[in-house]
Amino acid sequence: MAGLSILARSFALLALARTVCSQSVQPLPIPNSFPHDYPGKPNGDFSPEWQNYYLVKDGSLPNVTFPLSRNWAGSITVNRTNHPNDTLFFWAFEHKKGSLTSNATDEPWAIWLNGGPGASSMLGLLLENGPLLVTDNGSLRSNNASWANLVDYVWVDQPVGTGYSTAESDGGYVFDEDEMGADFLNFLRNLVKIFPSLATRPLLLTGESYAGTYIPYITKALFSTPQPPVNLSKIAIGNGAIGSVTEIELLPAVSIIETYPQLIGYDAEVYQYFKTQAHLCGYDFNLTYPQQGKFPSVGDPSPPTEPFRATALAKQPSALLKKRFNALIHAVEAPEAGIVRRDADPTRAEVEAREQKRRAWLAKKNSLLRNRDLSGRANGTIDPWYGCFLTNEVQDYALNFSMPWNLSQEIVVPSLDDYGPYNVYNLVDARAPPLAIDPSIFLNDAKTKAALHAPTSKNWTLQINYPFNSSFTHINGSNPFGDPSIEPVAFLDDLATNATEHGVKVIIYLGNDDSVVPHISSEISIQNTTFGGIQGFTRKPDTPWYDDSGKFAGVVHQERNWTYILVAEAGHEVPEYQPESAFVMYREFILGNNQTGLLTNSSATAIGGEDSSLVVGPNNILFGENSILYGSGTRTSFYAAPSATIASWRSYFAGVVATESAAAASASATAGDHASSDGIVSFGEARVWWIAASFGVAAALTL
Ligand SMILES: *[C@@H]1O[C@H](CO)[C@@H](O)[C@H](O)[C@H]1NC(C)=O
Ligand SMILES: *[C@@H]1O[C@H](CO)[C@@H](O)[C@H](O)[C@H]1NC(C)=O
Ligand SMILES: *[C@@H]1O[C@H](CO)[C@@H](O)[C@H](O)[C@H]1NC(C)=O
Ligand SMILES: *[C@@H]1O[C@H](CO)[C@@H](O)[C@H](O)[C@H]1NC(C)=O
Ligand SMILES: *[C@@H]1O[C@H](CO)[C@@H](O)[C@H](O)[C@H]1NC(C)=O
Ligand SMILES: *[C@@H]1O[C@H](CO)[C@@H](O)[C@H](O)[C@H]1NC(C)=O
Ligand SMILES: *[C@@H]1O[C@H](CO)[C@@H](O)[C@H](O)[C@H]1NC(C)=O
Ligand SMILES: *[C@@H]1O[C@H](CO)[C@@H](O)[C@H](O)[C@H]1NC(C)=O
Ligand SMILES: *[C@@H]1O[C@H](CO)[C@@H](O)[C@H](O)[C@H]1NC(C)=O
Ligand SMILES: *[C@@H]1O[C@H](CO)[C@@H](O)[C@H](O)[C@H]1NC(C)=O
Ligand SMILES: *[C@@H]1O[C@H](CO)[C@@H](O)[C@H](O)[C@H]1NC(C)=O
Ligand SMILES: *[C@@H]1O[C@H](CO)[C@@H](O)[C@H](O)[C@H]1NC(C)=O
Repeated sequence: MAGLSILARSFALLALARTVCSQSVQPLPIPNSFPHDYPGKPNGDFSPEWQNYYLVKDGSLPNVTFPLSRNWAGSITVNRTNHPNDTLFFWAFEHKKGSLTSNATDEPWAIWLNGGPGASSMLGLLLENGPLLVTDNGSLRSNNASWANLVDYVWVDQPVGTGYSTAESDGGYVFDEDEMGADFLNFLRNLVKIFPSLATRPLLLTGESYAGTYIPYITKALFSTPQPPVNLSKIAIGNGAIGSVTEIELLPAVSIIETYPQLIGYDAEVYQYFKTQAHLCGYDFNLTYPQQGKFPSVGDPSPPTEPFRATALAKQPSALLKKRFNALIHAVEAPEAGIVRRDADPTRAEVEAREQKRRAWLAKKNSLLRNRDLSGRANGTIDPWYGCFLTNEVQDYALNFSMPWNLSQEIVVPSLDDYGPYNVYNLVDARAPPLAIDPSIFLNDAKTKAALHAPTSKNWTLQINYPFNSSFTHINGSNPFGDPSIEPVAFLDDLATNATEHGVKVIIYLGNDDSVVPHISSEISIQNTTFGGIQGFTRKPDTPWYDDSGKFAGVVHQERNWTYILVAEAGHEVPEYQPESAFVMYREFILGNNQTGLLTNSSATAIGGEDSSLVVGPNNILFGENSILYGSGTRTSFYAAPSATIASWRSYFAGVVATESAAAASASATAGDHASSDGIVSFGEARVWWIAASFGVAAALTL
């Protein structure tokens, strides 16, 4: 049952993607919602008296059969002029008896934000790092790796209208990120009246994905306010949307292949093809340590030169396309799986020809790693079919040609007879469906709603297509999500200068198996930013760190109060995939000041040592896992290429890296020049339509 609502959601988002490019479709209504007053609500201004109102009473939550620390939840107004029903929903947990209501403590506290835009932070609470987690069958369990075991933690649904936060349909949704920041500060002003100690205790502002945009904007709002309501101490961003959407989603295509060469069947020729495309698209940024010069902005991708008519394609799906749509729907965490080649208007014969080719390939799958036929492909020019939408091309490639994504009979879900879904959030998982956990049954239960003082005017959903400017029509210049604000990389220097002045530390962490916001995009942002008077890190991050059991957990590097952490074997939602190492990461590097990976003024190498074999190539990659999960239920299996194939790839790749670094060394000796913006073009009016349509569901589902 849980799967059904997720299925419906995928349909809804597909439909939304289509409205963007078709003028004939009626605009969807903007949802209207308002908070609900429960008995016992105090009168007058917020004060500690409200603690009793917001308290979630023991035993009031269904399915909670284990002890929970004291917790509080409900709606808090953001005091928006003319929009009294705009509220943010919070759920706060204290980490030890009395810690959140005490007035005396100077212990840190923390906030968690999910992204989207439009994703509820209850997703983080109930699936990632909260004290109670939803299981596969809808029951709840306690989480001993919860980040709320270490500090008082507040999960907040925002911007207004997201999750259980309410918004008035008539202009109540945030116009842009500055309005989001203003709302959030008012929420904080009210929250600290309820829990007075939070005004002075050091705040850790943490979040994931599109919170990589929210957090810098909230931080900027705090730095720009003469009397900030809270005492910001650190910000931590996981797999964050800090750069432009092109930079976070498309530029990393080659780094994704390098991390998981399975995607291209360990095929050197295909690798070179993608490298050429990346170069032509201007995606091959060169990170150097120390970094010289600023990178240009990563603008809109070059579109295919073949005219794009996805709507026509979607309206007349052939049997093949229908299957792809099935794959897309069943891949719960990867709805964009199976988006087909963006043909202008393929004739049935063309579609069939492609399918025949693929089937011929499948018929020979005793030779599993057979090279793809590259004949007829672009060579030395941008591919007319994909343009610079390279990540989409990688997905298509894997689904058509690479094991185990294109497995045939092995897949047990009948409608998926041909495809192992491509899970963009966790590349190592090609199971069908990979994830069916759905917190909506718990959150929408009447008992839960009442216990959490949640609004009754709306049902909770994991994600909405956020209507910036209270409209689904994107204004000119907005990004594919409709967000009109410039991406944070545009003001990171200013933010970093302010952060130094205010003693605020910056932690940027990423799960290595994510292909939605891969680490290279954040590393570019770091290398492009001046903090503590110097631009970027001065040494490449390659210090290992370990979890409490001594297992390798990834790479860490720290300079001048900026910390970068790469988490091994973790997807987009790091604490969900690696609860133990995420907990250690939190304790040591976010909450704590563990010096592993730290490069001080006086040290030649980072504390904890450096291992130059750990992070390799121009994209600073950490090799992914050799085995890919596929199948489903009790028939889950691992697919791994023969070890000789892997060894031969590693040796080939080492050769490529060596040749390129020698070339780069001699190039940098002659020219101080760095990135060029070749191949990055701006497309004015066509921009919003094109990008939104091309990203389609992908752009709407960054959680
Ligand atoms: C605001 O909320 C109240 C209920 O508290 C509701 O009656 C009213 O219609 C809402 N106003 C708008 C504009 O939605
Ligand atoms: C917001 O409005 C509420 C209710 O009107 C009021 O009690 C509170 O003090 C206001 N908060 C701010 C930050 O203005
Ligand atoms: C904290 O201070 C408030 C006044 O600001 C007071 O009402 C409350 O009782 C105090 N709480 C504790 C636990 O001392
Ligand atoms: C649900 O799953 C949990 C473990 O994930 C298990 O302990 C529990 O027995 C299951 N409940 C039902 C009703 O299947
Ligand atoms: C930096 O701080 C100044 C005030 O000192 C403020 O005007 C500016 O908006 C802040 N910028 C950022 C990005 O934090
Ligand atoms: C680099 O920083 C500049 C501002 O200093 C910004 O305009 C540009 O977009 C940034 N580029 C990247 C790739 O982050
Ligand atoms: C691309 O062109 C180069 C030189 O023009 C040639 O050596 C190479 O084989 C071509 N590759 C493909 C896949 O056609
Ligand atoms: C409670 O857990 C069961 C599984 O044990 C699940 O089927 C049910 O939907 C859950 N109810 C709520 C309200 O979460
Ligand atoms: C919530 O969902 C239920 C079931 O789909 C529906 O009947 C109800 O009207 C919805 N409530 C609101 C407030 O949208
Ligand atoms: C720092 O973290 C590492 C984990 O990488 C751990 O082994 C070490 O004990 C920690 N050091 C301190 C001082 O806590
Ligand atoms: C890093 O933070 C510490 C403590 O807040 C501060 O003393 C130090 O000056 C900062 N270093 C830099 C380079 O900003
Ligand atoms: C990075 O360096 C390579 C090799 O020198 C060069 O071909 C490429 O154009 C550079 N990338 C950018 C964006 O300048």
